[in-house]
Amino acid sequence: MDKAQILVASNRGPVSFSIDDDGALRHRRGGGGLVSGLSSAAAQADTLWVCAALSDADRQAASRAPEGRLDRAGFDVGGTSVRMLDIPPATFANAYTSVANSTLWFVHHMLYDTPNKPGFGAEFRAEWADYRAYNTAFAEGLLTGSADNARVAVQDYHLALVPRMLRGRRPDLRISHFSHTPWAPPEYFRMLPTDIARELLEGMLGADRLGFLSRRWADAFLRCCETFLRADVDWDKRTVEYGSRVIGVAVYPLGADAEGLRERAAADDVAERRAALRERVGDRRLIVRVDRTELSKNIVRGLEAYREMLRDHPEWHGRVTHLAFAYPSRGDVPEYREYTESVLRVAKEINEEFGTDSWTPLILEVNDDYPRSLAAYRLADVLLVNPIRDGMNLVAKEGPVLSDDGCALVLSTEAGAADELGAHALLVNPYDVSETARALHTALEMPAEERRERSAHLAEQATAVSPQRWFGDQLRALG
Ligand code: G6P
Repeated sequence: MDKAQILVASNRGPVSFSIDDDGALRHRRGGGGLVSGLSSAAAQADTLWVCAALSDADRQAASRAPEGRLDRAGFDVGGTSVRMLDIPPATFANAYTSVANSTLWFVHHMLYDTPNKPGFGAEFRAEWADYRAYNTAFAEGLLTGSADNARVAVQDYHLALVPRMLRGRRPDLRISHFSHTPWAPPEYFRMLPTDIARELLEGMLGADRLGFLSRRWADAFLRCCETFLRADVDWDKRTVEYGSRVIGVAVYPLGADAEGLRERAAADDVAERRAALRERVGDRRLIVRVDRTELSKNIVRGLEAYREMLRDHPEWHGRVTHLAFAYPSRGDVPEYREYTESVLRVAKEINEEFGTDSWTPLILEVNDDYPRSLAAYRLADVLLVNPIRDGMNLVAKEGPVLSDDGCALVLSTEAGAADELGAHALLVNPYDVSETARALHTALEMPAEERRERSAHLAEQATAVSPQRWFGDQLRALG
């Protein structure tokens, strides 16, 4: 089996599979910011992307692939070499659903402290053991797939323990870890049991270099290293000294893939959806949002803001439509199911309160349709991105790039993207529904020329670092 010089490891890979009614395997692009960012960057000849089989359909596909490589089984994986790891479903569920998504994600997004969240008892310890086993499976997959001195780019909170596991076995490897999420400050991270907080930090510090999307998250990580490991942080050089090694911590803000997006958005399926959307909403102004149905995305407060704007500004009645695409996500986590219910409920209330025979104020779509999202970006007059906390948020960057006639961006201060886009967006506190409502009104009223100008600046900022350069910079920094 050939060995790769560059390896990427992430839970979700660039494709996922489903089984048709007739039993055939279908594949589609994986969702979320990590896949959007890495897909084009990893499509290089010498790169192997190691990911987990996420479903029975993925497992079937993986079992058909010679030497575990999907590209060799004839699946179109966008020019990337992909190996899907078949991790036992029960281990996977504990690692992915219980530890990564229900615990670590909630902690980093500062969403854990609700009375319904379980404490860390015996059940959690069993789940944690599976998180370790799942990280071990990745480490094994990477060890067998890597050439001598290969560079290994480990991604996200699912795989925090992998860098240390690799270093213990293969000191020749050059290892990075990148976090696509925020990082919790020590005052919040301390909610985790101390030994687990330390194990996570020590696991990541097995890397040579660590990357974050925003200075805010990198600083929080460094403070956690000081607090929980008593590690020496050099704040000027931004390094951590721990266990006689010095680890670099850097910020790499990921930009939108201008070329790839424009090419994809020019395809017929996008044009068809664009025409269908235009037909459906007529010449009304359009407020667009596109998210996974995700607690951190703050969809409910966004809808409430739209409702408040319609209450305060009857002049918009009949003249605006809100297109909200809220794609299914993490249905195995109970909070996500409840959240989806809330989104549907508020959406229904809005249409009941304001809808008329000739006007549907809100069109909410909950089925995943990537070309339709691109079509909506093209048509948007206003793009609403109001997460309560977000590593970066690529929607805020992709929208202005694809906009046909310029879009005004209403953007949460709590998204990493606000670091770069803040000057030309309308920034809002995501908890402040009234402020968000006012920003929506201001965005709708913005003169066309100002909107185009701001949108052009946003697109320029958003594409300053292409995913290829973003990934290339990290590889170069590894030496
Ligand atoms: C975020 C995470 C990614 C994840 C994506 C989609 O962007 O940082 O690691 O893949 O969300 O979430 P999912 O659980 O569906 O993979």
